[in-house]
Amino acid sequence: VSLKPHNTFGIDVSARYWVEINHEDDIQTLLQLTDFVDTPKLILGGGSNVLLCHDFNGLVVKMNIQGINVTGEDDAHVYLKAGAGVTWHELVVFCVQQGYAGLENLSLIPGTVGAAPMQNIGAYGVELEQVFESLTAVHVLTGQKRTFNHADCAFGYRESIFKKELKGQYIITGVTFQLDKHPTFHTRYGAIQETLTEMGVSQDRLTIKAISDAVIQIRRSKLPDPVQIGNAGSFFKNPEIPKEQFDSLKLRYPTLPGYPIGDTLVKVPAGWLIEQAGWKGYRSGDVGVHAKQALVLVNYGNATGNEVLALAKQIQKSVLDLFGIKISPEVNVV
Ligand code: EPU
Repeated sequence: VSLKPHNTFGIDVSARYWVEINHEDDIQTLLQLTDFVDTPKLILGGGSNVLLCHDFNGLVVKMNIQGINVTGEDDAHVYLKAGAGVTWHELVVFCVQQGYAGLENLSLIPGTVGAAPMQNIGAYGVELEQVFESLTAVHVLTGQKRTFNHADCAFGYRESIFKKELKGQYIITGVTFQLDKHPTFHTRYGAIQETLTEMGVSQDRLTIKAISDAVIQIRRSKLPDPVQIGNAGSFFKNPEIPKEQFDSLKLRYPTLPGYPIGDTLVKVPAGWLIEQAGWKGYRSGDVGVHAKQALVLVNYGNATGNEVLALAKQIQKSVLDLFGIKISPEVNVV
């Protein structure tokens, strides 16, 4: 099976076996197959956060469980459970239409609901963990079902327990969100305010639909559409560096942006570092660095995963040489 249509980077590798999960019970059936336990497995949602570097001599499990259902409500909240295979943006659109607030800043993020908690997706001032209630998952070896609440997931910046201690151990089957009936608008992110103003939306006429529209506009203007140019969004995480290091870099580079994390750390945008290192808009063969967002690596057509990885390593080295800062990938390299 070619995986090219199943990863947004558009890398053409193949998988030995392929199976689609449309219902939680399908996993139990799978577990009964001989060899299942010993076969290497790759769980794939929308394939929007992976870089596939070689053919996969194992089983790709494509998560396709659908469904969006209200599971409860109280005066302030609506609880909504979505199947892991639901397209993320479809869920956002549904919530915006129904007036359930909380996901609007996360509009247009590629991928699926099941993949969202893995890396605690975030954009424009909101992270998934702020709206996360719980998730259901099945253990890949025992078939045991388990519910993970917020604390169980150990969320961090683009992190969760599913990328660390429990990596590869659970198949996420559904996620429950706690959404607000009375919205709190998150408009602190500069670009959102500017775009709302351009759209002619004043503070007193703010709606979650307007925020969603603004986010969609910003994303379309900066980020390449994976249908046209292969990519997996931000390739690297934004590094957190000691405040002393930030202060001394700031003397050399007065325009260096930084966001304090507590008293001792400062988060700096990797996109800025990569741009300063001269990579923005770079292209070699079919791999490159997006011209409007240096944090995004792109495949112009037939790049291999290893070519993307080689470019990533060159970028890491030059950022380290220039700034003394180590940047690490945000995408999962397989
Ligand atoms: N910047 C540059 N040059 C660039 C890119 C960015 O100088 O080429 C500077 C910008 O001027 C700005 C700062 O870096 O001062 C931040 O840029 P931006 O707002 O574009 O956000 P980011 O930090 O590059 C992060 C997320 C994105 C998310 C945006 C918006 C990570 C790894 N990435 O990018 O998430 O959409 O913020 O919240 O945290 C993703 O994870 O795939 C993703 C796209």
